[in-house]
Amino acid sequence: MDNKTLLDKLNSLSIEEKIGQLIQLTGDFFEGDMDTVVTGPLKKLGLSSSYNVYNTGSILNITNPEKIIRLQTDYLEKSVHKIPLLFMADIIYGYRTIFPIPIAQACSWNYEGIEHAASVAARECYEEGVHVTFSPMVDIVRDPRWGRVMESPGEDTLLAKKYAQSVVLGIQGRNLESTAVPANKIAACVKHFAAYGAPVAGREYNAVDMSEHALREYYLPGYQAAIEAGAKLVMTAFNTLNGIPATGNEWLNRDVLRQEMNFDGVLISDYAAIEELIMHGYAEDEASAARLALLAGVDVDMKTAIYANQLKNVISGNDHMLELLNEAVYRVLKLKNDLGLFEDPFRGLQEIVKLSTSSILSDEHKKAALSLAEESVVLLKNENVLLPLSKDTKVALMGPYAEENSTLGMWAIKGEETDTVNLKTGLLKHVDSAHLTVCRGAYMMPVHARENLGKYADKLAAETIDEEVLLQQAIQNANEADVIVLALGESIYQSGEGGSRTNLTLPEPQLKLLHELSLLGKKIVLIVYSGRPLILTDVAEKVDAIVQAWYPGTMGGEALANVLYGEVNPSGKLAMTFPRSVGQIPVYYNELNTGRPNLKENGSYRFASRYIDEVNEPLYPFGYGKSFTSFEYSLLAVSPKKMKTNESVDIRISVSNTGTYDGKETIQLYIRDKFASVARPVKELKDFKKVFLQSGETKIVEFSIDEDMLKFHGRGMEYKSEPGEFEVYIGSSSQEILLSFSFIFLPEDKHE
Ligand code: IFM
Repeated sequence: MDNKTLLDKLNSLSIEEKIGQLIQLTGDFFEGDMDTVVTGPLKKLGLSSSYNVYNTGSILNITNPEKIIRLQTDYLEKSVHKIPLLFMADIIYGYRTIFPIPIAQACSWNYEGIEHAASVAARECYEEGVHVTFSPMVDIVRDPRWGRVMESPGEDTLLAKKYAQSVVLGIQGRNLESTAVPANKIAACVKHFAAYGAPVAGREYNAVDMSEHALREYYLPGYQAAIEAGAKLVMTAFNTLNGIPATGNEWLNRDVLRQEMNFDGVLISDYAAIEELIMHGYAEDEASAARLALLAGVDVDMKTAIYANQLKNVISGNDHMLELLNEAVYRVLKLKNDLGLFEDPFRGLQEIVKLSTSSILSDEHKKAALSLAEESVVLLKNENVLLPLSKDTKVALMGPYAEENSTLGMWAIKGEETDTVNLKTGLLKHVDSAHLTVCRGAYMMPVHARENLGKYADKLAAETIDEEVLLQQAIQNANEADVIVLALGESIYQSGEGGSRTNLTLPEPQLKLLHELSLLGKKIVLIVYSGRPLILTDVAEKVDAIVQAWYPGTMGGEALANVLYGEVNPSGKLAMTFPRSVGQIPVYYNELNTGRPNLKENGSYRFASRYIDEVNEPLYPFGYGKSFTSFEYSLLAVSPKKMKTNESVDIRISVSNTGTYDGKETIQLYIRDKFASVARPVKELKDFKKVFLQSGETKIVEFSIDEDMLKFHGRGMEYKSEPGEFEVYIGSSSQEILLSFSFIFLPEDKHE
């Protein structure tokens, strides 16, 4: 539909019909049984009896194609304006083929793989009738107590930008010339604007207090990258930002998002966030919540009755508010038009269902999930080269995750546990049962902590075997084996939305099992399933090898087994720091130096920025991850050593695989601005290259540093570079720096 026709359509709507376009409801408002996935509080909405549901603009979290067809057909029959419904859903890291959780994907440092994963998810969505997905979430996070670490790209701004861009391109496609969303693609919604990943004390929905400098320097670039990649929607955040709730924040959403960041798509509230302006103490009542949200540029009200019940009065007699309403409705209609819904309200769904031509869970999709899972696994420890295992080794597999299929993570709303390859099944692809015993050893959770685990609580409640019996079986199996493979972790319900924790150790019964096994003198390989960095400090001392599995998705067990038996050489590198203790949190690599840094040569000098009961360094730093092979770097050339405006410093290094396995290495380039008008971090990741090297092979790797990579937000929030000396660190993690040098940046006007 051309723009003029779209505007005519907009102008033909009554006020009620316009407001309806801004309302998002769940399917149960139309039919009783709609299989809606619950992703927020289930309180009664209180829609006024005069509200006509056949004016509603969009539907949340229905993913059943037959029901989508039925609902759209019924809606188009009964609505006067005949504007098709939009179907939006939380398809975060896979529809039915589930990929590793986002924090795991970020550890792959493979952004082509991440883009491909998003394109598989989009294709499966398209084939089941979903039009919009609430992904990517690009909230930077430095605090692993927060439950939504699992959905985040981690602590670093460059990785967040790359993740944002890759996921949007995967979901919407690469043709940025056209605003139309093609077949097999859907619309992406970047969230949660802004800074939702930094709640005080890591507690879900808590206030966010941060300087504008930190906001612009670290947190906003991820959202910006998604918008530049063409993201059609943005979702607001639940939190306050420096005292003002994001959902009612005019400065944030109009000045920053729309004006500065050039976003002209649909801004949708998070679930009930408009109504929550009242609980924040920011809106006096429902009418004021509606007014503040519209003023702040929020187009769609997700799951409340505020816009539906209040907007008409708020707008009445106020031309400015009417103009804002028209703008908001136009943006929703434009999105529908970009998706081609006016031409085909089903986007090909009827045909796909009729011909059963879907690619859901196809071999090709599973292969993509397997490959990304293999690259997301991080080898944290491998004492005396315990891994990879030989096929002659007698393995005792145990722990609550040994045969567990619930390894998809909390946001896999369409993922089926029955599709999942668990660890035992994965291992049996490499060895026969004569080389593998399997037992549970311990329960996932202590009895007293199970009630917080949603539907998983019922599963756990059914567990009645005596814990001592489980333990004795584990000890017996361990004694008869050469190596123990111990699969432990937090349950998927301990992370995700509403999953903040203060104690980040493995659950008690699992720690007990680990302790008892460690007394047997057997080699132990620990596999950790989790949605966040856990505190593994004590645990690491009791085991020989640690593999961080995260929640690895549908093909997780196979991916892990391929790593354990050396078919795949692990190449994952942490996208988030693993603290030694909760007291260190937040601990992240790009910190400021302070005026009294904790210098090694000063020992335990008191007047330094340090703890008296803990070292400053984390257990495993950002960028860290081991391989079965070893790599050596050497610096070949750096030129020039003095860089002018419009020049770049070109770097050539050689990287050699000096071990006996082929493998991939992620070479990381960090920069430190030594002196500036604003204190700059001790190092910042500015580029990286992931290369594959056969055993014995050497490759030349090149980097180029340009002026853009030296820029930062100054005191007045201007984005600029400053002349001076810069240090460059190249290494295999943020702590393991293998090459370093410095150069001078002397812009033209400052030149000698
Ligand atoms: O997309 C989610 C969001 O991330 C958290 N609240 C609910 C939304 C819709 O389900």
